[in-house]
Amino acid sequence: MAIERTFSIVKPDATKRNITGAINAKLEEAGLRIVAQKRIHMSKEQAEGFYDVHKERPFFGELTEFMSSAPVIVQVLEGENAVAKNREVMGATNPKEADAGTIRKEHALNIGENSVHGSDSLENAKIEINYFFTEEEIVG
Ligand code: CMP
Repeated sequence: MAIERTFSIVKPDATKRNITGAINAKLEEAGLRIVAQKRIHMSKEQAEGFYDVHKERPFFGELTEFMSSAPVIVQVLEGENAVAKNREVMGATNPKEADAGTIRKEHALNIGENSVHGSDSLENAKIEINYFFTEEEIVG
């Protein structure tokens, strides 16, 4: 199996409830290593650029308002099959459909305030990592 890097965001609903440590513990228990992370407050423009693929969706305004409403933690996660492993530990986008034991089942409030984001492919992981991090900031 290949060692991969994926991109993760701990979202505003989680930073506001002070549960970033609980989420990081879940990631680490799943075998993912946090090789970069920083707490930032995204601008609306930054959120719009990040979620550009969703700009035609009806929830785009709500999504970008939410993501720029409070601090987030942006992260680079490293490990075997990191992209798939992170999606597994996050659980389904809608917490009502998430499996027991996943981050979203345990912590997410609803489909919008769903505590975490994770890249959906290795290709997007590279793009998303580059959106927030320089190579020097990633220490594996
Ligand atoms: P994320 O993995 O960050 O990628 C896009 C986000 O859009 C997704 O998680 C959800 O939080 C959000 N999203 C998807 N569907 C809806 C919806 N119907 N209403 C509000 N937000 C949504």
